[in-house]
Amino acid sequence: MKEMQRKNPKNLAVSFMFNLSFLLSNFSSLNQQNFPPYGETFFKFPTGRFLDGRLIPDFVAKYANLPYWKPYLAPGHHGFVDGANFASAGSCVLIESDPNTINLHMQLRYFKIVSSSLKQQLGGRKFAFQNIAFMDCQPETKQSYGLNEDECYQDISELALLLNDALANATKQLETQLPGFKYSIFHYYNLLFNMTYNPSKYGLKVVESRCCGTGTYRGSDCGIGDYDLCSDPSTYMYWDGEHLTQYANSQVVEQFWNGGTNISSPLNLKELFELELDDEIQIKNASEYDNGALADE
Ligand SMILES: *[C@@H]1O[C@H](CO)[C@@H](O)[C@H](O)[C@H]1NC(C)=O
Ligand SMILES: *[C@@H]1O[C@H](CO)[C@@H](O)[C@H](O)[C@H]1NC(C)=O
Ligand SMILES: *[C@@H]1O[C@H](CO)[C@@H](O)[C@H](O)[C@H]1NC(C)=O
Ligand SMILES: *[C@@H]1O[C@H](CO)[C@@H](O)[C@H](O)[C@H]1NC(C)=O
Repeated sequence: MKEMQRKNPKNLAVSFMFNLSFLLSNFSSLNQQNFPPYGETFFKFPTGRFLDGRLIPDFVAKYANLPYWKPYLAPGHHGFVDGANFASAGSCVLIESDPNTINLHMQLRYFKIVSSSLKQQLGGRKFAFQNIAFMDCQPETKQSYGLNEDECYQDISELALLLNDALANATKQLETQLPGFKYSIFHYYNLLFNMTYNPSKYGLKVVESRCCGTGTYRGSDCGIGDYDLCSDPSTYMYWDGEHLTQYANSQVVEQFWNGGTNISSPLNLKELFELELDDEIQIKNASEYDNGALADE
């Protein structure tokens, strides 16, 4: 997640959401979950979100007292004066990884279109990043590798940890290069690791199996054919093979918003939102994004 804010002379903040894979928006791409029981816990209808209710950005909006981020591709005409959500389910960096998703380059292109239509020099000042999840023990992973209940697939972590290390390095570097750059990295990997091995601390009961789907761990096909559905999703960590339940997301955002420095660092999300920016700091203008300052992440 990347969140950018700029105080303009009228004190209006504009914020934008970008993603790789996990932050999803409805209406955004061919890749969406628009059938029941998706959405059943909160919206009461399928919204395209890959779970029973609200996603991490939905809860962040609630904590920050902002409206939900408007999906950039939502039907109709939108001014995006409060910002926009460019995120798309399963989004990737390389187009060839999945051509049906809105990859990072397309998201940045959409951002440029919005920023020029707002006729503002939008410059990123505050950035929130969510690092790559701990995925070794996801029900879908376990099911596809035929693992036992107490087994996980550790090769995934090697890659995730490498990327998370690179992200931490890159933000440290940006901090030295960009005056006024403020950020929060949410250690999502560690939180999901902790949730997996200590679920009761987060009010969760079931980690191995998901709430909705078919197969050993209900690892696939939620809402398709003859699937199983749990009666109380709020006791489950996973809604389907890959995606957390709304309840688990509420716990995640609680940590992201209020957590200590070993959960969100160097600032937590609340501190990042509340931070007063020094208006004297020269903000980076939109054309500087063309030089690839953001495109390498
Ligand atoms: C991050 O920085 C540390 C210290 O400079 C370095 O040892 C490490 O290799 C870097 N990691 C990545 C993935 O670039
Ligand atoms: C995970 O748990 C450890 C041990 O309780 C704690 O030190 C750490 O801060 C936790 N990290 C996250 C991100 O929750
Ligand atoms: C942060 O981590 C330290 C040790 O790594 C641990 O003692 C402490 O309890 C953690 N804090 C939280 C809030 O989890
Ligand atoms: C924006 O940044 C570019 C590249 O640094 C610079 O050439 C240009 O003059 C700047 N525009 C404004 C309006 O500050």
